[in-house]
Amino acid sequence: MLAINLKGKKAFIAGIGDDQGFGWAIAKALAEAGATLLIGTWTPILKIFTTSLQAGKFDASRRLADGSLMEFAKIYPLDAAFDRPEDVPEEVRENKRYKDVGGYTISEVAAAIHQDFGSIDIFVHSLANAPEIQNSLLDTSRKGYLAALSSSSYSFISLLSHLGPHMNAQGLALSLTFFASERVVPGYGGGMSSAKAALESDTRTLAWEAGRKWNIRVNTISAGPLRSRAARAIGFIDRMIDYSKANAPLTQELQAFEVGNVAAFLASSLASAMTGNTIYVDDGLHAMGVAVDSPCLQVKE
Ligand SMILES: NC(=O)c1ccc[n+]([C@@H]2O[C@H](COP(=O)([O-])OP(=O)(O)OC[C@H]3O[C@@H](n4cnc5c(N)ncnc54)[C@H](O)[C@@H]3O)[C@@H](O)[C@H]2O)c1
Repeated sequence: MLAINLKGKKAFIAGIGDDQGFGWAIAKALAEAGATLLIGTWTPILKIFTTSLQAGKFDASRRLADGSLMEFAKIYPLDAAFDRPEDVPEEVRENKRYKDVGGYTISEVAAAIHQDFGSIDIFVHSLANAPEIQNSLLDTSRKGYLAALSSSSYSFISLLSHLGPHMNAQGLALSLTFFASERVVPGYGGGMSSAKAALESDTRTLAWEAGRKWNIRVNTISAGPLRSRAARAIGFIDRMIDYSKANAPLTQELQAFEVGNVAAFLASSLASAMTGNTIYVDDGLHAMGVAVDSPCLQVKE
């Protein structure tokens, strides 16, 4: 029988802050396959996440097929907008949600992972942020645009360049993207469409560079709409889900575990020749050229 076996593999998943998003679902799929999980949680929500976890708030969604609860070997605070401690501005460092937390920049987290666990096999980037997401691209400021690219795209490059030297050969670096990178999705603003386009282009270039340098694979999953916390902040996620159900080849609502399963496949030796790919897990919506529910396409009496 063909099976996904990740026993003995160590995975670092950056971008888990609750049990609603893709990061959590990917963690769960990797745990089902036997991987050890290390996660990175955005510094300002670290406390609420760990408190909720300890209070058992996520226990139902932690349950694995064998009845045990998914465990995190370690939770690292992470702010992927910063590479080194000296990059953190005073007002952030002094912010009450950062003040008592140390070691959250990318270089520090990568060094801590290496010190705590040696080499890892899987790195998942499941985070994005655009302070001006509600603004159209025409109304996005330079600062907002660059912040979107910094948190959502450059963070992948930086994390990979710091983690790569301590990743085992045949390992996987994976990110999450959205098809607003290549087709217009009105409302996906603040430079996020540009950030995803950069992420997809970088996936190809980094596949080449990291493949030759460390013999690891780099892929990105282009996921369909999911009602995660980040997506709710955009404001039109329910309409996107309805749109997908009405217009995609598969008329079901995308479930986060479906993305988790593909991530587990990509992390396994079954995908040993796959790198540099944008893999669509979106019920086929990306393949459509027209919205079939458009009134213009209805047959007139
Ligand atoms: N939800 C969707 O419809 C959808 C569709 C396609 C792709 N995606 C992508 O999936 C990925 C995960 O998002 P999600 O929708 O599952 O939402 P999510 O809210 O579960 O995940 C986003 C995470 O990013 C974290 N984050 C934000 N800024 C950060 C920073 N500077 N440093 C560290 N962490 C930071 C947040 O705390 C959050 O935990 C993102 O890349 C997103 O763009 C989402």
